[in-house]
Amino acid sequence: MSSAGLLLKRAGKSAIRNLIPLSTRKRVAIWVNRQQWLNPDRRSWWSAELVRDFAEKDVNAYHKFLWAHHLGYAAPYEAATRFGAEKMRPSRTIFFAELRRCMEALNLSPGQTQSVLEVGCSLGYQLRYVETDLCPGAGVLDGIDIDRHAVQSGQEHLRAAGSRISLRCGDIQQLDELLGGRVYDLILCTGVLMYLKEADAAGLVRTMLSHSRVMLALAGLAHPTRDNAVLEGSDVRDRDHTFIHNFDGMVTNAGGTVLARRWEGDRQYEGQTVYFVFAAPR
Ligand SMILES: C[S@@+](CC[C@H](N)C(=O)[O-])C[C@H]1O[C@@H](n2cnc3c(N)ncnc32)[C@H](O)[C@@H]1O
Repeated sequence: MSSAGLLLKRAGKSAIRNLIPLSTRKRVAIWVNRQQWLNPDRRSWWSAELVRDFAEKDVNAYHKFLWAHHLGYAAPYEAATRFGAEKMRPSRTIFFAELRRCMEALNLSPGQTQSVLEVGCSLGYQLRYVETDLCPGAGVLDGIDIDRHAVQSGQEHLRAAGSRISLRCGDIQQLDELLGGRVYDLILCTGVLMYLKEADAAGLVRTMLSHSRVMLALAGLAHPTRDNAVLEGSDVRDRDHTFIHNFDGMVTNAGGTVLARRWEGDRQYEGQTVYFVFAAPR
């Protein structure tokens, strides 16, 4: 598209945002996403574009809106394309290998892990990998996610596969209330804290540590040039309004201990960076 065309398109989008109130655009975004006759990429693009200015007003609420309604970047999360070790993203293959190594080094045999919680589990495909490969002895495998479509279709897929995994829909900002007194040997939270502002992400790290018996395993966006561990505050990735956090600092501030970590800066594996922190509670 020519630069004049791009300018016109941008002016058109901002006119729509100025003329139509956000509450109406949110309803239209949900409606657009349901229109099967539209090409899926167009549906996903329009539903995110209609509410893009929401991110500037309340970034946590913006991300929650997209995930909760399976819009924009949430749309590709479908059972047919996510379950199975062969479909795991390369950065997660590295994450699970690192997690296994870390558990074994600490004599925490993955085979003896009894209970696992995944915070922001989507369809439950990572929990399924944990159930079949990493911790086959685990009797409790729970997942919580705000994306109702992913939770329902993931649970259906898991039921048909004879899995013990239990998924529920909920906002992880209410994790403490959702979990009550429950404690898990291992808690996983990968690619999720980036959708929360620094103080909220730090609060969630504290909550997850307080509900983990043995280990909390985190994966998030790596800062491209500085080790996340030295960041004094979280950085913003402008293109999608997500956050680059310092998990190491969040863990220690919450009284936890960093057992192992990995940061690879700007190196990308199919578009994903590597920043993992494996932590023990107090
Ligand atoms: C990028 S996906 C990552 C999914 C999976 N953990 C992985 O690593 O492949 C982020 C997930 O976090 C969930 N999520 C984001 N904000 C949430 C919130 N406030 N409460 C519950 N789930 C949330 C989304 O619905 C989505 O399934």
